[in-house]
Amino acid sequence: MPTNEERLTRLEDMRAEALLGGGPVRIERQHSWGKLTARERLDLLLDPGSFVELDAFVTHRSSDFGLADQRFLGDGVVTGHGTIDGRLVFVFSQDFTVFGGSLSEAYAEKICKVMDLAMKVGAPIVGLNDSGGARIQEGVVSLGGYADIFLRNVLASGVVPQISVIMGPCAGGAVYSPAMTDFTIMVEKTSYMFVTGPNVVKAVTHEQVDSEELGGALVHTTRSGVAHLAAHDESDALDAVRRLLAQLPQNNMEAPAIAETTDPMDRMDAALDDVVPADPHKPYDMHDVISGIADSGSFLEIQPGWAANIIIGFARFGGRSVGIIAQQPAVLAGALDSDASIKAARFVRTCDCFNVPLVTLVDVPGFLPGVGQEHGGIIKHGAKLLYAYCEATVPKVTVITRKAYGGAYDVMSSKHIRGDMNFAWPTAEIAVMGAEGAVNIIFKDAIAAAEDQPAEHRRLVAEYETEFANPYIAAARGYVDAVIRPSETRPRIIEALTMLANKRDTNPRKKHGNIPL
Ligand code: HXC
Repeated sequence: MPTNEERLTRLEDMRAEALLGGGPVRIERQHSWGKLTARERLDLLLDPGSFVELDAFVTHRSSDFGLADQRFLGDGVVTGHGTIDGRLVFVFSQDFTVFGGSLSEAYAEKICKVMDLAMKVGAPIVGLNDSGGARIQEGVVSLGGYADIFLRNVLASGVVPQISVIMGPCAGGAVYSPAMTDFTIMVEKTSYMFVTGPNVVKAVTHEQVDSEELGGALVHTTRSGVAHLAAHDESDALDAVRRLLAQLPQNNMEAPAIAETTDPMDRMDAALDDVVPADPHKPYDMHDVISGIADSGSFLEIQPGWAANIIIGFARFGGRSVGIIAQQPAVLAGALDSDASIKAARFVRTCDCFNVPLVTLVDVPGFLPGVGQEHGGIIKHGAKLLYAYCEATVPKVTVITRKAYGGAYDVMSSKHIRGDMNFAWPTAEIAVMGAEGAVNIIFKDAIAAAEDQPAEHRRLVAEYETEFANPYIAAARGYVDAVIRPSETRPRIIEALTMLANKRDTNPRKKHGNIPL
Protein backbone atom coordinates (compact mmCIF):
# COMPACT_ATOMS: atom_id res chain seq x y z
CA MET A 1 0.00 0.00 0.00
CA PRO A 2 1.39 3.45 -0.87
CA THR A 3 1.84 5.79 2.05
CA ASN A 4 -0.14 9.03 2.29
CA GLU A 5 2.97 10.93 1.36
CA GLU A 6 3.43 8.80 -1.73
CA ARG A 7 -0.19 9.42 -2.66
CA LEU A 8 0.30 13.17 -2.31
CA THR A 9 3.47 13.02 -4.37
CA ARG A 10 1.62 11.15 -7.09
CA LEU A 11 -1.03 13.88 -7.18
CA GLU A 12 1.55 16.64 -7.36
CA ASP A 13 3.46 14.80 -10.11
CA MET A 14 0.27 14.45 -12.15
CA ARG A 15 -0.58 18.11 -11.60
CA ALA A 16 2.87 19.12 -12.80
CA GLU A 17 2.57 16.83 -15.81
CA ALA A 18 -0.83 18.28 -16.74
CA LEU A 19 0.59 21.79 -16.67
CA LEU A 20 3.07 20.83 -19.40
CA GLY A 21 0.46 19.91 -22.02
CA GLY A 22 2.28 18.44 -25.01
CA GLY A 23 5.70 19.00 -23.40
CA PRO A 24 8.47 21.59 -23.42
CA VAL A 25 9.47 21.11 -27.08
CA ARG A 26 5.99 21.78 -28.37
CA ILE A 27 5.57 24.70 -25.94
CA GLU A 28 8.77 26.17 -27.33
CA ARG A 29 7.42 25.73 -30.85
CA GLN A 30 4.19 27.49 -29.86
CA HIS A 31 6.20 30.42 -28.47
CA SER A 32 8.39 30.56 -31.58
CA TRP A 33 5.24 31.30 -33.61
CA GLY A 34 4.51 34.27 -31.35
CA LYS A 35 1.67 32.36 -29.69
CA LEU A 36 1.07 31.82 -25.99
CA THR A 37 0.10 28.46 -24.52
CA ALA A 38 -3.48 27.65 -23.52
CA ARG A 39 -2.67 28.27 -19.85
CA GLU A 40 -0.71 31.46 -20.42
CA ARG A 41 -3.73 32.81 -22.27
CA LEU A 42 -6.05 32.01 -19.37
CA ASP A 43 -3.64 33.75 -17.00
CA LEU A 44 -3.94 36.89 -19.11
CA LEU A 45 -7.71 36.67 -19.50
CA LEU A 46 -8.79 35.95 -15.94
CA ASP A 47 -8.34 37.86 -12.70
CA PRO A 48 -5.04 36.75 -11.13
CA GLY A 49 -5.38 33.57 -9.10
CA SER A 50 -9.06 33.10 -9.97
CA PHE A 51 -8.78 30.14 -12.35
CA VAL A 52 -10.24 26.88 -11.09
CA GLU A 53 -9.42 24.02 -13.43
CA LEU A 54 -11.70 21.05 -14.05
CA ASP A 55 -10.87 17.73 -15.69
CA ALA A 56 -7.12 18.28 -15.67
CA PHE A 57 -6.57 14.50 -15.65
CA VAL A 58 -8.95 13.59 -18.46
CA THR A 59 -7.30 11.61 -21.25
CA HIS A 60 -8.57 10.29 -24.55
CA ARG A 61 -9.85 6.73 -24.80
CA SER A 62 -8.55 5.87 -28.23
CA SER A 63 -6.12 3.16 -29.13
CA ASP A 64 -6.24 3.30 -32.95
CA PHE A 65 -3.23 4.61 -34.88
CA GLY A 66 -0.89 4.09 -31.92
CA LEU A 67 -2.79 6.51 -29.72
CA ALA A 68 -2.67 4.10 -26.76
CA ASP A 69 0.94 5.19 -26.20
CA GLN A 70 0.24 8.88 -26.52
CA ARG A 71 -1.86 10.15 -23.69
CA PHE A 72 -1.55 13.67 -22.35
CA LEU A 73 -3.26 14.75 -19.14
CA GLY A 74 -6.05 17.17 -20.04
CA ASP A 75 -6.13 15.89 -23.64
CA GLY A 76 -5.59 19.19 -25.44
CA VAL A 77 -8.05 21.55 -23.83
CA VAL A 78 -7.87 23.42 -20.53
CA THR A 79 -11.30 24.03 -19.01
CA GLY A 80 -12.75 25.56 -15.87
CA HIS A 81 -13.98 28.82 -14.43
CA GLY A 82 -12.56 32.02 -13.06
CA THR A 83 -13.47 35.66 -12.77
CA ILE A 84 -13.11 38.72 -14.97
CA ASP A 85 -13.39 41.99 -13.04
CA GLY A 86 -14.72 39.88 -10.19
CA ARG A 87 -17.52 38.29 -12.25
CA LEU A 88 -17.78 34.56 -12.83
CA VAL A 89 -16.96 33.25 -16.29
CA PHE A 90 -16.50 29.75 -17.72
CA VAL A 91 -13.62 29.13 -20.09
CA PHE A 92 -12.08 26.60 -22.39
CA SER A 93 -8.69 27.09 -23.94
CA GLN A 94 -7.56 24.77 -26.72
CA ASP A 95 -3.99 23.54 -26.34
CA PHE A 96 -2.23 23.31 -29.69
CA THR A 97 0.71 21.49 -28.05
CA VAL A 98 -1.43 18.37 -27.64
CA PHE A 99 -2.32 16.74 -30.98
CA GLY A 100 -2.48 20.22 -32.51
CA GLY A 101 -5.38 21.11 -30.22
CA SER A 102 -7.50 18.64 -32.20
CA LEU A 103 -10.84 17.65 -30.73
CA SER A 104 -11.40 14.16 -29.33
CA GLU A 105 -14.45 12.67 -27.66
CA ALA A 106 -13.05 13.31 -24.16
CA TYR A 107 -12.00 16.86 -25.14
CA ALA A 108 -15.51 17.63 -26.38
CA GLU A 109 -16.96 16.27 -23.14
CA LYS A 110 -14.74 18.66 -21.17
CA ILE A 111 -16.04 21.63 -23.16
CA CYS A 112 -19.64 20.47 -22.85
CA LYS A 113 -19.23 20.14 -19.09
CA VAL A 114 -18.24 23.80 -18.65
CA MET A 115 -20.93 24.91 -21.09
CA ASP A 116 -23.55 23.01 -19.08
CA LEU A 117 -22.29 24.53 -15.84
CA ALA A 118 -22.34 28.03 -17.35
CA MET A 119 -25.97 27.52 -18.36
CA LYS A 120 -26.89 26.13 -14.95
CA VAL A 121 -25.45 29.06 -13.02
CA GLY A 122 -26.03 31.75 -15.67
CA ALA A 123 -22.51 32.92 -16.47
CA PRO A 124 -20.72 33.78 -19.75
CA ILE A 125 -18.60 31.31 -21.70
CA VAL A 126 -15.32 32.32 -23.33
CA GLY A 127 -13.68 29.89 -25.77
CA LEU A 128 -10.05 30.33 -26.86
CA ASN A 129 -9.64 28.48 -30.15
CA ASP A 130 -6.35 27.11 -31.47
CA SER A 131 -6.98 23.75 -33.08
CA GLY A 132 -6.29 21.52 -36.05
CA GLY A 133 -9.97 20.51 -35.99
CA ALA A 134 -11.38 17.02 -35.62
CA ARG A 135 -8.89 14.53 -34.10
CA ILE A 136 -8.30 12.53 -37.23
CA GLN A 137 -7.51 9.31 -35.36
CA GLU A 138 -10.91 9.38 -33.64
CA GLY A 139 -12.93 9.83 -36.81
CA VAL A 140 -16.67 10.15 -36.49
CA VAL A 141 -16.51 10.22 -32.68
CA SER A 142 -14.82 13.59 -33.00
CA LEU A 143 -17.55 14.83 -35.35
CA GLY A 144 -20.12 13.80 -32.74
CA GLY A 145 -18.17 15.80 -30.15
CA TYR A 146 -18.37 18.91 -32.32
CA ALA A 147 -22.09 18.47 -32.75
CA ASP A 148 -22.51 18.19 -28.98
CA ILE A 149 -20.81 21.59 -28.67
CA PHE A 150 -22.81 23.14 -31.53
CA LEU A 151 -26.06 22.12 -29.86
CA ARG A 152 -24.97 23.75 -26.60
CA ASN A 153 -23.90 26.91 -28.45
CA VAL A 154 -27.43 27.20 -29.78
CA LEU A 155 -29.16 26.37 -26.51
CA ALA A 156 -26.97 28.92 -24.70
CA SER A 157 -27.57 31.57 -27.38
CA GLY A 158 -29.48 34.46 -25.84
CA VAL A 159 -29.18 32.93 -22.38
CA VAL A 160 -25.54 33.57 -21.45
CA PRO A 161 -23.02 35.65 -23.42
CA GLN A 162 -20.65 33.51 -25.51
CA ILE A 163 -17.39 34.95 -26.84
CA SER A 164 -14.89 33.19 -29.11
CA VAL A 165 -11.29 34.18 -29.61
CA ILE A 166 -9.45 32.68 -32.58
CA MET A 167 -5.76 32.39 -31.75
CA GLY A 168 -4.54 29.87 -34.31
CA PRO A 169 -6.18 27.54 -36.84
CA CYS A 170 -9.95 27.12 -36.81
CA ALA A 171 -10.96 25.15 -39.86
CA GLY A 172 -13.62 22.90 -41.32
CA GLY A 173 -16.88 22.43 -39.48
CA ALA A 174 -15.12 23.60 -36.32
CA VAL A 175 -15.73 27.19 -37.44
CA TYR A 176 -19.41 26.81 -36.74
CA SER A 177 -19.01 26.92 -33.00
CA PRO A 178 -17.47 30.43 -32.98
CA ALA A 179 -19.90 31.44 -35.72
CA MET A 180 -22.83 30.74 -33.40
CA THR A 181 -21.41 32.66 -30.44
CA ASP A 182 -22.16 36.33 -29.82
CA PHE A 183 -18.74 37.73 -30.66
CA THR A 184 -15.69 36.40 -32.51
CA ILE A 185 -12.33 38.10 -32.03
CA MET A 186 -9.36 37.16 -34.23
CA VAL A 187 -5.65 37.75 -33.65
CA GLU A 188 -3.96 39.33 -36.66
CA LYS A 189 -1.42 37.22 -38.56
CA THR A 190 -1.60 34.11 -36.33
CA SER A 191 -5.23 33.07 -36.67
CA TYR A 192 -7.40 31.95 -39.53
CA MET A 193 -10.86 30.55 -40.10
CA PHE A 194 -12.17 28.75 -43.17
CA VAL A 195 -14.53 25.94 -44.03
CA THR A 196 -12.13 24.51 -46.63
CA GLY A 197 -8.43 25.38 -46.64
CA PRO A 198 -6.16 26.65 -49.43
CA ASN A 199 -5.36 23.15 -50.74
CA VAL A 200 -8.98 22.15 -51.17
CA VAL A 201 -9.81 25.52 -52.67
CA LYS A 202 -6.99 25.07 -55.18
CA ALA A 203 -8.13 21.57 -56.10
CA VAL A 204 -11.78 22.54 -56.55
CA THR A 205 -11.73 26.06 -57.95
CA HIS A 206 -8.06 26.38 -59.04
CA GLU A 207 -7.77 29.56 -56.97
CA GLN A 208 -4.33 30.16 -55.43
CA VAL A 209 -4.62 31.64 -51.98
CA ASP A 210 -2.83 31.30 -48.66
CA SER A 211 -4.43 30.88 -45.23
CA GLU A 212 -4.13 34.54 -44.34
CA GLU A 213 -5.71 35.73 -47.59
CA LEU A 214 -8.42 33.09 -47.40
CA GLY A 215 -9.44 33.46 -43.78
CA GLY A 216 -7.16 35.74 -41.77
CA ALA A 217 -8.29 38.41 -39.31
CA LEU A 218 -8.21 41.14 -41.96
CA VAL A 219 -10.47 39.22 -44.34
CA HIS A 220 -13.03 38.35 -41.70
CA THR A 221 -13.20 41.85 -40.22
CA THR A 222 -13.32 43.75 -43.52
CA ARG A 223 -14.80 41.48 -46.21
CA SER A 224 -16.86 38.63 -44.81
CA GLY A 225 -18.04 40.17 -41.53
CA VAL A 226 -17.52 36.76 -39.86
CA ALA A 227 -15.42 38.24 -37.05
CA HIS A 228 -16.27 41.25 -34.91
CA LEU A 229 -12.84 42.49 -33.89
CA ALA A 230 -9.24 42.03 -35.04
CA ALA A 231 -6.57 42.29 -32.35
CA HIS A 232 -2.91 43.16 -32.90
CA ASP A 233 -1.79 40.42 -30.54
CA GLU A 234 -3.14 37.85 -28.11
CA SER A 235 -3.06 40.18 -25.13
CA ASP A 236 -5.11 42.74 -27.06
CA ALA A 237 -7.63 40.06 -28.03
CA LEU A 238 -8.09 38.97 -24.42
CA ASP A 239 -8.44 42.58 -23.36
CA ALA A 240 -11.26 42.95 -25.88
CA VAL A 241 -13.04 40.00 -24.24
CA ARG A 242 -12.87 41.76 -20.89
CA ARG A 243 -14.19 44.99 -22.41
CA LEU A 244 -17.08 43.21 -24.12
CA LEU A 245 -18.09 41.32 -21.01
CA ALA A 246 -18.07 44.55 -18.98
CA GLN A 247 -20.93 45.80 -21.18
CA LEU A 248 -23.03 42.67 -20.84
CA PRO A 249 -24.96 41.10 -17.98
CA GLN A 250 -24.11 37.61 -16.73
CA ASN A 251 -27.23 36.20 -18.40
CA ASN A 252 -30.53 37.15 -19.99
CA MET A 253 -32.30 37.48 -16.64
CA GLU A 254 -30.06 40.31 -15.50
CA ALA A 255 -29.34 43.87 -16.58
CA PRO A 256 -25.81 45.04 -17.40
CA ALA A 257 -23.96 46.52 -14.43
CA ILE A 258 -23.94 50.31 -14.14
CA ALA A 259 -20.38 51.66 -14.09
CA GLU A 260 -19.01 54.64 -12.21
CA THR A 261 -18.47 57.67 -14.44
CA THR A 262 -16.84 61.02 -13.90
CA ASP A 263 -18.43 62.45 -17.05
CA PRO A 264 -21.23 64.81 -15.90
CA MET A 265 -24.72 63.62 -16.86
CA ASP A 266 -25.72 67.17 -17.84
CA ARG A 267 -22.66 67.82 -20.01
CA MET A 268 -23.57 69.71 -23.18
CA ASP A 269 -21.29 69.64 -26.19
CA ALA A 270 -21.62 72.97 -28.01
CA ALA A 271 -19.65 71.62 -30.99
CA LEU A 272 -22.61 69.36 -31.80
CA ASP A 273 -24.71 72.38 -32.76
CA ASP A 274 -22.47 72.77 -35.81
CA VAL A 275 -21.65 69.16 -36.61
CA VAL A 276 -24.24 68.79 -39.40
CA PRO A 277 -23.09 70.81 -42.44
CA ALA A 278 -25.46 73.37 -43.92
CA ASP A 279 -25.20 71.60 -47.29
CA PRO A 280 -27.33 68.43 -46.99
CA HIS A 281 -25.07 66.62 -49.47
CA LYS A 282 -21.96 67.13 -47.36
CA PRO A 283 -20.82 64.29 -45.13
CA TYR A 284 -19.69 64.48 -41.52
CA ASP A 285 -18.26 61.86 -39.20
CA MET A 286 -20.89 60.31 -36.93
CA HIS A 287 -18.05 59.24 -34.58
CA ASP A 288 -17.86 62.92 -33.58
CA VAL A 289 -21.49 62.78 -32.50
CA ILE A 290 -20.96 59.55 -30.57
CA SER A 291 -17.94 60.90 -28.71
CA GLY A 292 -19.82 64.13 -28.01
CA ILE A 293 -22.75 62.40 -26.32
CA ALA A 294 -21.51 59.15 -24.73
CA ASP A 295 -19.54 58.90 -21.48
CA SER A 296 -16.04 60.02 -22.25
CA GLY A 297 -13.90 57.24 -23.77
CA SER A 298 -16.62 54.61 -23.36
CA PHE A 299 -17.30 53.73 -27.02
CA LEU A 300 -16.24 50.23 -28.03
CA GLU A 301 -16.84 49.93 -31.75
CA ILE A 302 -17.70 46.51 -33.13
CA GLN A 303 -16.90 45.52 -36.73
CA PRO A 304 -15.39 48.94 -37.52
CA GLY A 305 -13.84 47.73 -40.76
CA TRP A 306 -16.88 46.05 -42.31
CA ALA A 307 -19.97 47.81 -43.70
CA ALA A 308 -18.63 51.11 -42.38
CA ASN A 309 -21.75 52.92 -43.62
CA ILE A 310 -23.28 51.84 -40.33
CA ILE A 311 -21.53 52.14 -36.98
CA ILE A 312 -22.30 49.71 -34.16
CA GLY A 313 -20.79 49.36 -30.73
CA PHE A 314 -21.23 49.56 -27.00
CA ALA A 315 -21.00 52.78 -25.02
CA ARG A 316 -22.14 54.14 -21.70
CA PHE A 317 -24.48 56.98 -20.85
CA GLY A 318 -24.29 58.05 -17.22
CA GLY A 319 -22.63 54.70 -16.58
CA ARG A 320 -25.42 52.68 -18.22
CA SER A 321 -24.40 50.23 -20.93
CA VAL A 322 -26.08 50.82 -24.30
CA GLY A 323 -25.73 49.54 -27.84
CA ILE A 324 -25.28 52.30 -30.40
CA ILE A 325 -26.45 51.87 -33.98
CA ALA A 326 -25.63 54.89 -36.13
CA GLN A 327 -25.48 55.74 -39.78
CA GLN A 328 -22.12 56.98 -41.00
CA PRO A 329 -22.81 59.77 -43.54
CA ALA A 330 -19.11 59.76 -44.43
CA VAL A 331 -19.43 56.28 -46.06
CA LEU A 332 -21.94 55.67 -48.88
CA ALA A 333 -23.79 58.73 -47.52
CA GLY A 334 -24.99 56.47 -44.71
CA ALA A 335 -27.25 54.48 -47.06
CA LEU A 336 -28.41 51.08 -45.85
CA ASP A 337 -27.07 48.26 -48.00
CA SER A 338 -27.24 44.52 -47.42
CA ASP A 339 -24.08 44.26 -45.32
CA ALA A 340 -24.98 47.25 -43.15
CA SER A 341 -28.45 45.81 -42.56
CA ILE A 342 -27.06 42.41 -41.57
CA LYS A 343 -24.41 43.98 -39.33
CA ALA A 344 -26.89 46.20 -37.50
CA ALA A 345 -29.64 43.56 -37.29
CA ARG A 346 -27.38 41.09 -35.56
CA PHE A 347 -26.20 43.74 -33.11
CA VAL A 348 -29.75 44.88 -32.30
CA ARG A 349 -30.63 41.26 -31.50
CA THR A 350 -27.47 40.77 -29.42
CA CYS A 351 -28.33 43.83 -27.33
CA ASP A 352 -31.99 42.87 -27.05
CA CYS A 353 -31.32 39.36 -25.79
CA PHE A 354 -28.98 40.70 -23.10
CA ASN A 355 -31.13 43.63 -21.96
CA VAL A 356 -28.84 46.31 -23.34
CA PRO A 357 -30.84 49.43 -24.36
CA LEU A 358 -30.49 50.72 -27.91
CA VAL A 359 -29.50 54.24 -28.89
CA THR A 360 -30.00 54.82 -32.62
CA LEU A 361 -28.53 57.81 -34.45
CA VAL A 362 -30.22 58.31 -37.81
CA ASP A 363 -28.94 60.01 -40.93
CA VAL A 364 -30.10 57.77 -43.73
CA PRO A 365 -30.90 58.75 -47.32
CA GLY A 366 -32.58 55.36 -47.86
CA PHE A 367 -31.64 51.89 -48.99
CA LEU A 368 -28.74 51.77 -51.44
CA PRO A 369 -29.99 51.57 -55.02
CA GLY A 370 -28.38 49.23 -57.55
CA VAL A 371 -28.75 46.01 -59.48
CA GLY A 372 -26.10 44.42 -57.27
CA GLN A 373 -28.02 45.26 -54.12
CA GLU A 374 -31.38 44.12 -55.50
CA HIS A 375 -30.01 40.87 -56.89
CA GLY A 376 -28.04 40.35 -53.70
CA GLY A 377 -31.26 40.34 -51.71
CA ILE A 378 -31.41 43.81 -50.13
CA ILE A 379 -35.13 43.14 -49.63
CA LYS A 380 -34.55 40.23 -47.30
CA HIS A 381 -31.42 41.73 -45.70
CA GLY A 382 -33.08 45.08 -45.03
CA ALA A 383 -36.01 43.13 -43.60
CA LYS A 384 -33.63 41.58 -41.06
CA LEU A 385 -32.94 44.99 -39.58
CA LEU A 386 -36.58 45.99 -39.61
CA TYR A 387 -37.51 42.69 -38.00
CA ALA A 388 -34.81 43.04 -35.33
CA TYR A 389 -35.91 46.54 -34.33
CA CYS A 390 -39.62 45.58 -34.32
CA GLU A 391 -38.94 42.56 -32.15
CA ALA A 392 -36.64 44.33 -29.66
CA THR A 393 -38.25 45.07 -26.30
CA VAL A 394 -35.31 46.81 -24.60
CA PRO A 395 -35.49 50.61 -24.13
CA LYS A 396 -35.08 52.23 -27.55
CA VAL A 397 -33.97 55.85 -27.86
CA THR A 398 -33.64 57.37 -31.32
CA VAL A 399 -32.08 60.63 -32.46
CA ILE A 400 -32.57 61.79 -36.06
CA THR A 401 -29.64 64.06 -36.83
CA ARG A 402 -30.38 64.72 -40.49
CA LYS A 403 -31.98 62.50 -43.13
CA ALA A 404 -34.64 59.96 -42.32
CA TYR A 405 -36.04 59.11 -45.70
CA GLY A 406 -38.45 56.52 -46.97
CA GLY A 407 -38.56 52.98 -45.65
CA ALA A 408 -35.27 53.56 -43.88
CA TYR A 409 -37.06 56.12 -41.64
CA ASP A 410 -39.44 53.39 -40.50
CA VAL A 411 -36.65 50.84 -40.05
CA MET A 412 -34.33 52.94 -37.92
CA SER A 413 -36.12 52.50 -34.60
CA SER A 414 -38.98 54.82 -35.51
CA LYS A 415 -41.87 55.54 -33.16
CA HIS A 416 -44.10 53.24 -35.20
CA ILE A 417 -42.03 50.16 -34.40
CA ARG A 418 -41.93 50.77 -30.66
CA GLY A 419 -39.24 53.44 -30.44
CA ASP A 420 -39.70 54.63 -26.85
CA MET A 421 -38.21 58.09 -27.05
CA ASN A 422 -37.64 59.62 -30.47
CA PHE A 423 -35.75 62.88 -30.74
CA ALA A 424 -34.90 64.95 -33.80
CA TRP A 425 -32.38 67.71 -34.27
CA PRO A 426 -33.58 70.90 -36.03
CA THR A 427 -31.46 69.73 -38.98
CA ALA A 428 -33.61 66.61 -39.37
CA GLU A 429 -35.28 65.95 -42.71
CA ILE A 430 -38.04 63.41 -42.23
CA ALA A 431 -39.76 62.68 -45.53
CA VAL A 432 -40.55 60.03 -48.10
CA MET A 433 -37.51 61.05 -50.10
CA GLY A 434 -35.09 63.93 -50.69
CA ALA A 435 -36.36 67.17 -52.26
CA GLU A 436 -34.83 66.51 -55.70
CA GLY A 437 -36.41 63.11 -56.09
CA ALA A 438 -39.79 64.23 -54.77
CA VAL A 439 -39.97 67.29 -57.03
CA ASN A 440 -38.93 65.28 -60.08
CA ILE A 441 -41.86 62.96 -59.54
CA ILE A 442 -44.72 65.10 -58.28
CA PHE A 443 -43.97 68.21 -60.39
CA LYS A 444 -42.85 66.41 -63.57
CA ASP A 445 -45.58 67.95 -65.71
CA ALA A 446 -45.33 71.41 -64.12
CA ILE A 447 -41.59 71.53 -64.75
CA ALA A 448 -42.01 70.32 -68.34
CA ALA A 449 -44.55 73.10 -68.96
CA ALA A 450 -42.40 75.87 -67.43
CA GLU A 451 -40.65 78.39 -69.63
CA ASP A 452 -37.41 78.29 -67.64
CA GLN A 453 -37.35 74.63 -66.58
CA PRO A 454 -34.13 74.68 -64.47
CA ALA A 455 -35.32 77.78 -62.58
CA GLU A 456 -38.73 76.24 -61.91
CA HIS A 457 -37.05 73.03 -60.77
CA ARG A 458 -34.79 74.98 -58.37
CA ARG A 459 -37.74 76.96 -57.03
CA LEU A 460 -39.80 73.84 -56.36
CA VAL A 461 -36.88 72.04 -54.71
CA ALA A 462 -36.27 75.03 -52.42
CA GLU A 463 -39.98 75.20 -51.60
CA TYR A 464 -40.11 71.48 -50.81
CA GLU A 465 -37.01 71.74 -48.62
CA THR A 466 -38.55 74.57 -46.59
CA GLU A 467 -41.95 72.93 -46.29
CA PHE A 468 -41.11 69.28 -45.84
CA ALA A 469 -37.38 68.69 -45.18
CA ASN A 470 -37.64 69.36 -41.45
CA PRO A 471 -38.66 67.58 -38.26
CA TYR A 472 -41.79 69.61 -37.55
CA ILE A 473 -44.36 67.66 -39.56
CA ALA A 474 -43.31 64.48 -37.76
CA ALA A 475 -43.24 66.38 -34.44
CA ALA A 476 -46.78 67.69 -35.06
CA ARG A 477 -47.97 64.09 -35.24
CA GLY A 478 -45.95 62.92 -32.24
CA TYR A 479 -43.74 60.72 -34.41
CA VAL A 480 -40.87 62.47 -32.69
CA ASP A 481 -41.31 63.22 -29.02
CA ALA A 482 -39.17 66.34 -29.03
CA VAL A 483 -37.05 68.44 -31.34
CA ILE A 484 -33.88 69.13 -29.36
CA ARG A 485 -30.74 71.19 -29.74
CA PRO A 486 -27.86 68.93 -30.75
CA SER A 487 -25.85 70.13 -27.74
CA GLU A 488 -28.62 68.89 -25.41
CA THR A 489 -28.49 65.36 -26.76
CA ARG A 490 -26.44 63.73 -24.00
CA PRO A 491 -28.60 64.88 -21.07
CA ARG A 492 -31.78 64.10 -23.01
CA ILE A 493 -30.62 60.54 -23.79
CA ILE A 494 -29.57 59.97 -20.17
CA GLU A 495 -32.96 61.27 -18.93
CA ALA A 496 -34.72 58.96 -21.37
CA LEU A 497 -32.67 55.91 -20.39
CA THR A 498 -33.25 56.62 -16.70
CA MET A 499 -36.99 57.00 -17.29
CA LEU A 500 -37.02 53.75 -19.29
CA ALA A 501 -34.85 51.75 -16.90
CA ASN A 502 -37.76 49.62 -15.68
CA LYS A 503 -39.43 49.30 -19.06
CA ARG A 504 -41.39 46.10 -19.54
CA ASP A 505 -42.57 45.09 -22.98
CA THR A 506 -43.29 41.70 -24.45
CA ASN A 507 -43.98 40.01 -27.76
CA PRO A 508 -46.83 37.57 -28.38
CA ARG A 509 -46.13 34.03 -27.15
CA LYS A 510 -44.75 31.90 -29.94
CA LYS A 511 -42.27 29.09 -30.48
CA HIS A 512 -39.99 31.55 -32.26
CA GLY A 513 -40.43 34.18 -34.92
CA ASN A 514 -39.44 33.58 -38.50
CA ILE A 515 -36.80 36.23 -39.16
CA PRO A 516 -36.03 36.49 -42.91
CA LEU A 517 -32.65 34.75 -43.16
C1 HXC B 1 -4.79 14.86 -34.96
C2 HXC B 1 -3.42 16.62 -35.43
C3 HXC B 1 -4.45 17.26 -36.16
C4 HXC B 1 -5.68 16.59 -36.25
C5 HXC B 1 -2.72 18.51 -36.20
N1 HXC B 1 -2.37 17.44 -35.49
N2 HXC B 1 -3.98 18.41 -36.63
N3 HXC B 1 -3.60 15.43 -34.84
N4 HXC B 1 -5.82 15.40 -35.63
N5 HXC B 1 -6.70 17.14 -36.89
C6 HXC B 1 -1.09 17.21 -34.84
C7 HXC B 1 0.05 16.92 -35.77
O1 HXC B 1 0.12 15.58 -36.06
C8 HXC B 1 1.23 17.40 -34.95
O2 HXC B 1 1.55 16.42 -33.98
C9 HXC B 1 0.69 18.58 -34.21
O3 HXC B 1 -0.72 18.40 -34.20
C10 HXC B 1 0.99 19.90 -34.86
O4 HXC B 1 0.64 19.81 -36.23
P1 HXC B 1 1.63 20.26 -37.39
O5 HXC B 1 1.05 19.80 -38.64
O6 HXC B 1 3.03 19.85 -37.06
O7 HXC B 1 1.56 21.83 -37.20
P2 HXC B 1 1.45 22.96 -38.33
O8 HXC B 1 2.51 22.75 -39.36
O9 HXC B 1 1.44 24.24 -37.61
O10 HXC B 1 0.06 22.75 -39.01
C11 HXC B 1 -1.14 22.92 -38.29
C12 HXC B 1 -2.34 22.45 -39.12
C13 HXC B 1 -2.06 21.05 -39.69
C14 HXC B 1 -2.52 23.45 -40.27
C15 HXC B 1 -3.56 22.52 -38.23
O11 HXC B 1 -1.65 20.22 -38.62
C16 HXC B 1 -3.26 20.46 -40.33
O12 HXC B 1 -3.56 20.79 -41.47
N6 HXC B 1 -3.89 19.55 -39.61
C17 HXC B 1 -5.03 18.84 -40.12
C18 HXC B 1 -6.21 19.76 -40.20
C19 HXC B 1 -7.43 19.01 -40.62
O13 HXC B 1 -7.55 18.60 -41.77
N7 HXC B 1 -8.31 18.75 -39.67
C20 HXC B 1 -9.52 18.09 -39.86
C21 HXC B 1 -10.42 19.13 -40.49
S1 HXC B 1 -12.03 18.61 -40.63
P3 HXC B 1 2.97 16.30 -33.27
O14 HXC B 1 2.90 15.02 -32.55
O15 HXC B 1 3.96 16.34 -34.39
O16 HXC B 1 3.08 17.48 -32.38
C22 HXC B 1 -12.68 19.08 -39.23
C23 HXC B 1 -14.09 18.76 -39.19
C24 HXC B 1 -14.74 19.32 -38.01
O17 HXC B 1 -12.11 19.61 -38.38
C25 HXC B 1 -16.16 18.92 -38.20
C26 HXC B 1 -17.08 19.55 -37.27
C27 HXC B 1 -18.47 19.22 -37.68
